[in-house]
Amino acid sequence: MRRLASYMKRYKLFYVIALLMISGSITLDMFNPYLIKRIVDEVIIDGQVHLFSMIITALVAITISRSIFGYIKEYSFDLSASRIIMELRQDMFNHIQKLSFSYFDKTNTGELMSRIKDDTENILNALAFGIMLLIEQSLYFIVASILLFTLNWKLALLTVLIMPILAYIAVNLERKVGETYGKISDQRAALNTTAQENIAGVRLVKAFGREKFEIRKFLKQNRYNYRLNMEQAKVWSKYYPKIEFLSNVVLVMVITVGGFFVIGNEMTLGTLVAFGNYIFMLIWPMRMIGWITNIIAQCYASIKKVEKIFEEEPHIKEPDKPVRPEKFMGHVVFKDVSFEYNGITVLKNINIDVRPGTTIAIMGMTGAGKTSLINLIGRFYDVSSGNVYIDGIDVRNMDLNVLRSNISIVMQDVFLFSDTIEENIKFGVKDVLSEEFISASKDSKVHGFVSKMPYKYKTLIGERGVGLSGGQKQRISISRALLRDSKILILDDATSSLDMDTEYEIQKSLNERKGMTKFIIAHRVSAVKNADEIIILEDGEIVERGNHQQLINLKGRYYDIYNHQFGSMTLYDNEEVV
Ligand code: CTP
Ligand code: MG
Repeated sequence: MRRLASYMKRYKLFYVIALLMISGSITLDMFNPYLIKRIVDEVIIDGQVHLFSMIITALVAITISRSIFGYIKEYSFDLSASRIIMELRQDMFNHIQKLSFSYFDKTNTGELMSRIKDDTENILNALAFGIMLLIEQSLYFIVASILLFTLNWKLALLTVLIMPILAYIAVNLERKVGETYGKISDQRAALNTTAQENIAGVRLVKAFGREKFEIRKFLKQNRYNYRLNMEQAKVWSKYYPKIEFLSNVVLVMVITVGGFFVIGNEMTLGTLVAFGNYIFMLIWPMRMIGWITNIIAQCYASIKKVEKIFEEEPHIKEPDKPVRPEKFMGHVVFKDVSFEYNGITVLKNINIDVRPGTTIAIMGMTGAGKTSLINLIGRFYDVSSGNVYIDGIDVRNMDLNVLRSNISIVMQDVFLFSDTIEENIKFGVKDVLSEEFISASKDSKVHGFVSKMPYKYKTLIGERGVGLSGGQKQRISISRALLRDSKILILDDATSSLDMDTEYEIQKSLNERKGMTKFIIAHRVSAVKNADEIIILEDGEIVERGNHQQLINLKGRYYDIYNHQFGSMTLYDNEEVV
């Protein structure tokens, strides 16, 4: 709430203008029934026809001014609300960008999408109409009540006494609707996630022939959504007619009792007509109470959810006194590093020393901790104990921006944006010289296949790189990393989808790029055998280390892998001979 108030403060002026406009409109509205009363009593009954044109002119003037006031009021509310929401949404997005990997491990995309979209919309509704209606309708109620009492206190008392019943029903309606609304909003997030995951994973679904299963999953969610909407509809259909009925009862009662008063000369006919008009200014706020409180309650619930995102602190924090090394060499040292995810240890006692310009290869079974290890270099996660040093500085003390901008990484899961190939490679790096760009593309074996495309580097690719093969996507992401030309290059299983020849070509160009410290995670011996050091991870521990020859001589796990891969090749050769 406080956060929203601070946004609203910036638009104080708009709110002041809007309030003035509301007050102006209400004041003018109060004249309408009074003028009608005069037409009835003075023009029609007393026959003072000369007053007629004057009163009509006044009515017209009121109508016009009211429209102008109304326009300015709506405009002020809409403008300030839209701006506030734009700022809020932007701040939320910026904040999400700051959050660490661990936050995204535990939060699903659909949920974040509904925070950014649905919840901000709820807040927008409250700011654009909710608050405006609340102020406006309260003022109508207060001013109209006072006027009714001055016109005829007995009739006014009767009317006002019925109002709480109307309000009670309306508030009850709101409470019930609010309850289901909470469920609907949570459910909508779940529905979003299901749909989004299904579409993102549509190829997998088709490949496994799981369409029916997915359809059933979605149907279940969709049905539940329907049931909740029906629940809400039932609440409406139960309460709304009651509100409608009671509103009419009030009117009939006032006309009946008022009629007797007019007959008994206790009030004029004009006053009764005016009374009938003012009563709507009481009935409407009562009827709208439910709606308004609903909008405000939804807004409140959404603010709380949005607030929760803002309360999320990035686990990886910028150090208090960030060190910015003058020259970044890329000497990476892991000293007694252990690492755990939520209490489960995945890396134990890791000690490595990768000198600038050398290459370290990391092998190991799936789940051994390879990705976790390299994630510690750029502080995607922080070590649980021990230290990771770069050029002698603990990464936790280094300026985060400097650290990350000196690391290029090709992640295991390739992600390409729905943009051109060129933009995917540049990825925000401006001032790229065309030679650098072409050399990165050539080294990663992108240039060849892109040159054959009709729009070359300007070819658009779909959300997940539709229209490209797995290997092409990998090559584009390697190109993206090479273009950054950082001191540290990390390839996490980056050549797994490539054929041996292409992999070999890329390895060769990488070897020519001197002065880079390279981390290569791979499963193939061919991808690692030129590394200065190869480490084998098993259950988060280094179980073998050395260069290719040393590990072959060791006749351990690496030797087995080598034999296995080499063996299968000879088998393949033999088969070919046969
Ligand atoms: N893990 C986890 N939470 C994450 C990532 C990983 O708990 N956000 C766990 C995994 O379940 C696994 C261990 O950490 O048991 C090591 O994961 P990882 O480092 O990703 O393994 P890799 O060696 O990279 O495996 P792969 O070859 O399959 O990429
Ligand atoms: Mg991995």
